[in-house]
Amino acid sequence: MTTKAGKNENETALTLLRTAMAPLEEARALPFAAYHSEDFFALEMDRVFRGDWVAVCAEAALADTGDYLAIDIAGEPLVLIRSADGELRALSNVCRHRGTVLLDPGVDNLHGERIVCPYHGWSYSDSGTFRGAPYAQGARIDRDEHCLPSFRTEVWMGIVFVCLSADAPPLAERLAGIAPHLAEFDMASFAAPGALSAPEVWAANWKLIVENGMESYHLFKVHENTLEKISPTKGAYYIEGSAAWTLTGGEIVQGGGGIAGKLLATLFGSGASGDHYVLVSIPPSFVGVVTKDSWDWIIAHPLSPTSTRVLLGSLARSSPDLMTRMAASGYTAAFLEEDRAICERVQTGMAARASAGGRLVPLERVVVDFHHYLAWHLTGESPPERHVEATR
Ligand code: FES
Ligand SMILES: [Fe+2]
Repeated sequence: MTTKAGKNENETALTLLRTAMAPLEEARALPFAAYHSEDFFALEMDRVFRGDWVAVCAEAALADTGDYLAIDIAGEPLVLIRSADGELRALSNVCRHRGTVLLDPGVDNLHGERIVCPYHGWSYSDSGTFRGAPYAQGARIDRDEHCLPSFRTEVWMGIVFVCLSADAPPLAERLAGIAPHLAEFDMASFAAPGALSAPEVWAANWKLIVENGMESYHLFKVHENTLEKISPTKGAYYIEGSAAWTLTGGEIVQGGGGIAGKLLATLFGSGASGDHYVLVSIPPSFVGVVTKDSWDWIIAHPLSPTSTRVLLGSLARSSPDLMTRMAASGYTAAFLEEDRAICERVQTGMAARASAGGRLVPLERVVVDFHHYLAWHLTGESPPERHVEATR
């Protein structure tokens, strides 16, 4: 139900979001209400998460027949499943009889079985066709009418994106400008998926997590003893971007010895100077980082205005050995914990009524692009042209 206060708050946020279309030189942080208003969240679910492409996981993580990931996007239960014909499908995970959720959330394999509803046992094939209803006693159940609906999927750089809307333009079209920038990394050779780890839930609005993932401004402060040692804030730069996607990058430097130095050698090969990373931001939900040895990402799926499911994923060129995996996962856990803590701390700050967001700085140009994306999808206003950084 929309309260009067909620509606006003929402309108205020929308009005202020229009000002987010301002160029970098005038850009400011979003109004705090955008990070906790129920109405604003409902609008985002409707126009952004039900209207655009949302990243889910590595396609290669669901390689075998019957492999599936049951998850919901904007409250819509769905299952990504590798069908017997080799296709990866996004099927509705809701029974056509009386609406029960079919498969439990998480990762599993059908092991050759059908999808069977836990309520009255109606069953479906791994491609969503209706297979039968026990004790139907002659009731005529139209097979075509009782199939599981499916959703659009596209795979981009090894990652599956799902779109609940029939209207969004194809993802490949929108992202076409990225590939030339990543040519040096031979993206097609990233084929070995990391394990599909259990999603985490962070007590922060999804936008805080995405903004934090995109910008390299906070590295020197939040990740002083982790990421900053390898990819310092002072080495970060903007490459090219707009509301549709943004690429930023940065130098990878020699670690200062100790654990960071060892991990640097493990994770980034020699760690020779001259190495660099490229950060790929695809709103609303995806931020990935590519180096010459790895392709890692973080995906945010909103659960409520103040909680977000965070999915981590990766692709490597070959299956890394156990030691490397353990070192990498320990290191990732350390800096992600730093990110989670700062995002949750900002969320607490968003409750303030006596304060408001301030100016954004040039290192946050990617955040400005993200605000352009939001304003574009939520208010319908056309975003500014692509920006290409002239010098680094
Ligand atoms: S609700 Fe699924 S079989 Fe009845
Ligand atoms: Fe961070």
